[in-house]
Amino acid sequence: MCGIVGIVQQQETKIGKTIIEALTKLEYRGYDSVGIASIFDNKVIITKDQGKISEVSERIDVNSIKGKIAIGHTRWATHGPPSKENAHPHIDCSGEISVIHNGIIENFQALKEELLNQGHEFQSETDTEVIPHMLEQLVKKEGISLKDAIIQVSKRLEGTFAICVVSSLEPDRIYCAKRDSPLVIGINSDRMFCASDIPAFLSKTRKVVLLHDDEFVTLTSDGYEIINFNTLEKVVRKPHTVSWKPEMAQKAGFPHFMLKEIHEQPNSLADYIRIQQPALTRIAEKIYNSEKIFLLAAGTAHYSTLTGESLIRKYVKKPSSAIIASEYESIKSLIDEDTVILPVSQSGETMDTIMAIKSAKEQGASILSAVNVIGSTITRYSDEVLYLYAGPEIGVAATKTYTAQTLAMWDIGLELGKLSGEIDNSEYTAARKLFQEIPTVVKQTIVRNESRANHIASWFAKKNSSFYLGRGLNLQTANEGALKMKEIAYIHSESYPAGESKHGPIALVEEDYPVVFVSPKDHTHSRIISNIMEMKARGAAIVAVIEEGDREIEEMGKWKFEIPKGYSEMLSTIPYIVPLQLLAYYTAVRKNLSPDMPRNLAKAVSVL
Ligand code: G6P
Repeated sequence: MCGIVGIVQQQETKIGKTIIEALTKLEYRGYDSVGIASIFDNKVIITKDQGKISEVSERIDVNSIKGKIAIGHTRWATHGPPSKENAHPHIDCSGEISVIHNGIIENFQALKEELLNQGHEFQSETDTEVIPHMLEQLVKKEGISLKDAIIQVSKRLEGTFAICVVSSLEPDRIYCAKRDSPLVIGINSDRMFCASDIPAFLSKTRKVVLLHDDEFVTLTSDGYEIINFNTLEKVVRKPHTVSWKPEMAQKAGFPHFMLKEIHEQPNSLADYIRIQQPALTRIAEKIYNSEKIFLLAAGTAHYSTLTGESLIRKYVKKPSSAIIASEYESIKSLIDEDTVILPVSQSGETMDTIMAIKSAKEQGASILSAVNVIGSTITRYSDEVLYLYAGPEIGVAATKTYTAQTLAMWDIGLELGKLSGEIDNSEYTAARKLFQEIPTVVKQTIVRNESRANHIASWFAKKNSSFYLGRGLNLQTANEGALKMKEIAYIHSESYPAGESKHGPIALVEEDYPVVFVSPKDHTHSRIISNIMEMKARGAAIVAVIEEGDREIEEMGKWKFEIPKGYSEMLSTIPYIVPLQLLAYYTAVRKNLSPDMPRNLAKAVSVL
């Protein structure tokens, strides 16, 4: 996820300042580097650097960037770590065609090789840089117009993209094209905007045109023209006026970032699946060839590593343990050259995890990590990194990064199963097919359960204490569900293995006491039913997360959440958490609490 913006206006102004103001409104989309391409004196001028917008705009002289036309970008690294070179805009060899991009070009390796053979020189590690060079090839070597070149290139790009192009060859316009990444136009009497999202220009205009997939736009200071880049047919679309308040607009209309991020999960999971990571097979091979494996993490990430621990034990039958990073000392004596350490982290900056990795590395262990933030400290200590590609997460409570971490654990697990022969070819193919379906299943899960979560929350919000119970892999789901409720709704929530709940916790149960059961229809089902009955007999009110159509458990519950069929064990830890994220969110809202900024908690914890 990155933020892009473009302005084309009739008057020459200090346009750099306007671009920076607009980018600041998009910083929730990425914040590791910033750049501007402006046209001045018929030349493309690029100003860019690594860092947050506030840091970079202090370093560069924003006021000196003048002109009628400029594009700007705030980056969230995917291909290549945060650096000045990898910051957008990118430019062709002649320095005349400049491009900003939000999205992921899946076939960039093949395109890059082709361009290298044609003599193009690259300055960055990004996927985006193929685009200006492809345009240069068509415009300079084949004599095609810039407009036609962008149309041709858009058709060749695989993956997701919203791109804006400025060039000294046609210094009065911005060309844009998009597929699957967002792009909107903003209309003013004397200037036009394009951006990833409306907040970028909301203080200047409320008149917007939303672009659809496979559309190409020519933006000049007095208007816009849209065509479909496949059919070349003209698209007539009138602007509409938005009524959002600026603070709501940044959250895409959601009242809180947490809810927005819960809803983003189908897309973040699809991004993870979309991007092929060569590190995956290397990680699986290293785990397979190691003697022992320790997964290290803190907070929510720890619960994802419990899925990893189970899958490694199941598929390679080797000792594997998920250790809370701050308890690293307890395994320190076991670490040697034959040990693999698998840290999992959203931020890549959690100090407990960093200190544990440093120590393990000194003792010769291989560090193979799964991290969301590219270029973060943990990635720098790692021998191999599997990236989560969940985009920036602003809400303090992790949601979309948990499902991405869990998906990464399944990804590694499946490769291990194939390597060890525990999964045969047809099972592997079937599992990969299921993998592809996960974004849709998560989407259906949200649709089916959101209003229920809101309804159940009105009852849950009156409670002081609750249990979250599960068995097998979905004990992790119960753990994470309880953590969410604790973190943002401040309701004491204890997670426990369902079978163990009769050895203590049941003593606390009284009439209408909330007990959440994560109960997919897998081998744990009949035992879970017994545990539900034990709780119900003591007056507990059962909130059951079940597979759709599971009448047996449904009849025992006071409340239910339903998950689409087919995810009873394989990948189940992903959809089954989603209703519990929604339940925690709506419970916090019912209690008038701020889900995005819970008291005493921080997004990245850099203290020991
Ligand atoms: C903090 C955050 C949690 C997060 C944990 C680990 O406690 O509030 O949401 O799960 O740190 O963070 P990491 O960035 O390493 O995943």
